Amino acid sequence: WKTLDDMDLKGQRVLVRVDINVPVEDGRVTDTTRIDRIVPTVKDIQAAGGLPILLAHFDRPKGRVVPEMSLRQIVPALEAALGQDVIFLDGKYGEGVAAMGDGDVALLENLRFNPGEESNDAGFAQRLASLGDVYVNDAFSAAHRAHASTEALARLLPACAGRLMAEELTALDKALGTPDRPVVAVVGGAKVSTKLDLLSNLVEKVDVLVIGGGMANTFLAASGIDVGKSLCEHDLAQTARDIAQKAADTGCEILLPRDVVVAREFKAGAASEVVKAEDCPADAMILDAGPDSVAHIRMVLERAKTLVWNGPLGAFEIAPFDAATTAAAQAAAELTRDGKLVSVAGGGDTVAALNKAGVAGDFTYVSTAGGAFLEWMEGKTLPGVAALED
Ligand code: 3PG
Repeated sequence: WKTLDDMDLKGQRVLVRVDINVPVEDGRVTDTTRIDRIVPTVKDIQAAGGLPILLAHFDRPKGRVVPEMSLRQIVPALEAALGQDVIFLDGKYGEGVAAMGDGDVALLENLRFNPGEESNDAGFAQRLASLGDVYVNDAFSAAHRAHASTEALARLLPACAGRLMAEELTALDKALGTPDRPVVAVVGGAKVSTKLDLLSNLVEKVDVLVIGGGMANTFLAASGIDVGKSLCEHDLAQTARDIAQKAADTGCEILLPRDVVVAREFKAGAASEVVKAEDCPADAMILDAGPDSVAHIRMVLERAKTLVWNGPLGAFEIAPFDAATTAAAQAAAELTRDGKLVSVAGGGDTVAALNKAGVAGDFTYVSTAGGAFLEWMEGKTLPGVAALED
């Protein structure tokens, strides 16, 4: 794929696909990370003499105009991040774009208001293409969608990756494409069923796979351990055993919790105790990994060169069940700061957990992507990236 440096942008209208699908509460953006991260691309296009026209989606309006899902509500946060006014276009796009002058930035209304966006419609892509001269994709986090603005459009205009897209692809390649070994993957979260492809791909690629969160319970149960009332997908016991077997065949070590934090209720400050994984009481549930498990993870990280992390190790949203996630994240951050580890993390919950632990800034790279990060970890080709490569 090409970058902005490969394009001649002077005097060009540059269609920039961005992902500003950010959390909004009561009409206010509560996390501006995705907006902040597209600023270098917009500024560099302007510095090269181009006119950025931002294309984006917001939420899932399913091809209908849903006023609450208008991108207009994102404009103030975007203007604050860019330090300039943004021309918001919600119709007559051709006229709006033609009226833009030097230094202007425009944002089009939510592309998903048009059914052609999600159906990757050639006609809709053609209409978008007619608004610009060059296409830049800076939306890695939407690259797993084969939509008109992420896929078809890339094939209609000279196309390249924006700064953020390039940064994401480079960091992810360093983590799983051509990593320094040993590579450790930490995968947590509630359910094995949502991460089957991911686990299956990772055991082929990494040297150690640390499994945490509710997923670990399914693996513990599959190995014959009674997990009491813990969240557990008992019907996936055979699948978990198959993954463990595949790991044994490929020489990937799977690390499950040795000790666990159990409680009778899942609420803040609930009485909890640490027991060995095989000693979970029948009336209790596992809500976090224990200190021995964290020490073991730390030891594995100390021997590793590369870490890729997705998913918390426990029910991190409620204290004290965030302890293992926080401690392991802090260990990874410390090793990264010391230059001993390349650490890459992604996924909505993961980034929230790292932020809560106060260490997101210490990781080598924190992806802005949720679903796209997972599909990348599954080893899938992302249509938005493939279109840029073609
Ligand atoms: C995301 O928030 O992960 C991206 O913006 C993609 O959104 P989607 O899952 O609605 O396609």
